[in-house]
Amino acid sequence: MTSFTLPPDYPRIQRVNSFEELVSTPFARGVNAFCWPRTLPGDFSEVVELLGGGEGIVTLDDTRLLALPVSAAGRVAVDILLADQRRLREHDLDPVLNCIHGYPRDEDAGPVSTDVFSFHADSATVAADTWLCTYHGAASEGLRNDEAQRRVDLPATRAELLRQFGGEDNEEFREYLKENCYDLHYAPVPLARPFSFGLGNLWRIATDYPGCPVPPCIHRAPATLPGHPPRLLLIS
Ligand SMILES: [Fe+2]
Repeated sequence: MTSFTLPPDYPRIQRVNSFEELVSTPFARGVNAFCWPRTLPGDFSEVVELLGGGEGIVTLDDTRLLALPVSAAGRVAVDILLADQRRLREHDLDPVLNCIHGYPRDEDAGPVSTDVFSFHADSATVAADTWLCTYHGAASEGLRNDEAQRRVDLPATRAELLRQFGGEDNEEFREYLKENCYDLHYAPVPLARPFSFGLGNLWRIATDYPGCPVPPCIHRAPATLPGHPPRLLLIS
C-alpha cells in the first residue's frame, strides 16, 4: 500500500489517531472532515478476486465474507472488514460494505448531473455524518470548499434550470432545486486540486443538514472503468 498524505494547507481536514477520537470529536471551527490514516495489513485484492465478477453494486454481508476460502493474508483483510463494521454498529451506525463494479449513471442529466461521480455534499434531515473507507480499487475523492462552486449558482446553469422549472427565481424555485438535489452538486473552479481519500483510511465527513455547524464536505466517487478492479467500500 502506498503511503498517504493529506492535502497540505487545508484546515478543514483534521487528522485523528484512533477510532475513539474519530467517533467522538465534534465538527467545529470549520473542520468538516476527520481522517484516521491507516496502512492496513491483509490482502484485500484476494477478497475481491474470490468474490468474483459482477455488475453494479454488490452488498456484502458478514456470512458471505466469512465463507470465502481465503489465505491467511485474505483472512486478515476479512477480519478488518468485519471489525470496522462491528465498531460502527457499536456506535448505532448502520454501515454497509459494497463491492462496486459500477454505479448507475445519471443518463438524463439535464443541466446538473446528480450521480455520485459529480462532486456533491451528502444531505440529511437530522444531524448525521457520512463514514467512508475504500479498502480496494479507486478511492473516493474530495474537493476543497474554497475550490468548489454550487452548480446552481453558475449563471448559465441557473438560467437553464429556471427554464426547465418554468417560473421565477423565488422560494418555490429554490424548493425545486432542493427536491431534485440540484443544490447539492458542485463544480470545481479552474485549477482546483481534488484530493484522494486514499486506501484504508477511515473518514468521517460532514453532511448538509439543518443546523450543521460547518459547511458540508464535498466529495465524489471515482469513475469505475471497465477492466479496472472493483472498489471495496465501507459507507455509513
Ligand atoms: Fe456522497
